[in-house]
Amino acid sequence: MDFAVTYLMHQKNALQKWREAAVIASSDLREFERPDDLTPFSGTHFYQQLSETEKTKLYDGFLQMTAEAFIVFEQMLLKSNQVIQKKYKRDLRTQAMKAFALEEFYHLRAYRQFLNESRTGFWPESLISRQSHGLKFIYAWLLEMEPLCILIPGAKSEVFSLQYTKYLRKCFGTQSTSWSELNIKHAMDEVHHVGFDFNFFNSYVSSMSLVFKIRVWLFTFIMIVAIQFIVLISGVRLMRLSFGDRSIVSRYALTFRFFQWAVNRFEPYRLAKIQFGTFLGRRPFIGSKFFRFMAW
Ligand SMILES: [Fe+2]
Ligand SMILES: [Fe+2]
Repeated sequence: MDFAVTYLMHQKNALQKWREAAVIASSDLREFERPDDLTPFSGTHFYQQLSETEKTKLYDGFLQMTAEAFIVFEQMLLKSNQVIQKKYKRDLRTQAMKAFALEEFYHLRAYRQFLNESRTGFWPESLISRQSHGLKFIYAWLLEMEPLCILIPGAKSEVFSLQYTKYLRKCFGTQSTSWSELNIKHAMDEVHHVGFDFNFFNSYVSSMSLVFKIRVWLFTFIMIVAIQFIVLISGVRLMRLSFGDRSIVSRYALTFRFFQWAVNRFEPYRLAKIQFGTFLGRRPFIGSKFFRFMAW
């Protein structure tokens, strides 16, 4: 349980930065030039053929999609904590989990405020978080059945958030934008979360019988599949917002192309996969050999 003590000690000061700070408003984003590297399809021949309006829509939408994806993961971690507090015996681990969830709550609030601030200018429609109620119901059910099933996919999203924050510095240079500021603050916490997820997962799974271990792996696998659906739906919506005048067939084709680009060309995701693969190679969580595909 050493990891729980370490986490609780770190966390004592971590919350202060969220409590004190004012809302990070995104109103400044238009003052900065749109970095191509943060715009879907950048670096491809197709990208060069797009109009400025299309590029701006893609850029705005992709930024929103990232913020909303963080929000959804944070919501799931909050739900997982809720079930853990209800079902597990109280000890240092559950206490650390509660502290972890509190951090995620502050993150969720900050990202939501950031998006709400922008309602007047852009992002008129939610891509993920305020929609997909059916899927949310499925997530809630999965977490109710097995609250540990979000920890491994959650850790991957956290590795991504770290790579993404680094990448923002590369894209915006020395300029400090509200979006980079928010992500830097977020990353200060997330850097502690990845290890926490693995340790928390291991500390419970290690004492389980094989049948229960298989159950946790199975639910984790189903959760990963369920997450793909929400990503897919948000991609379809992003293409609809950006290419509203094109036919449905061509928008679906573009969605496919967009995911190809995001998985193979978008640097933070590419690096996150490599980094996550390194973690898995060192077998940081029980059963990680079954989850190697997460690094493909
Ligand atoms: Fe977070
Ligand atoms: Fe986190």
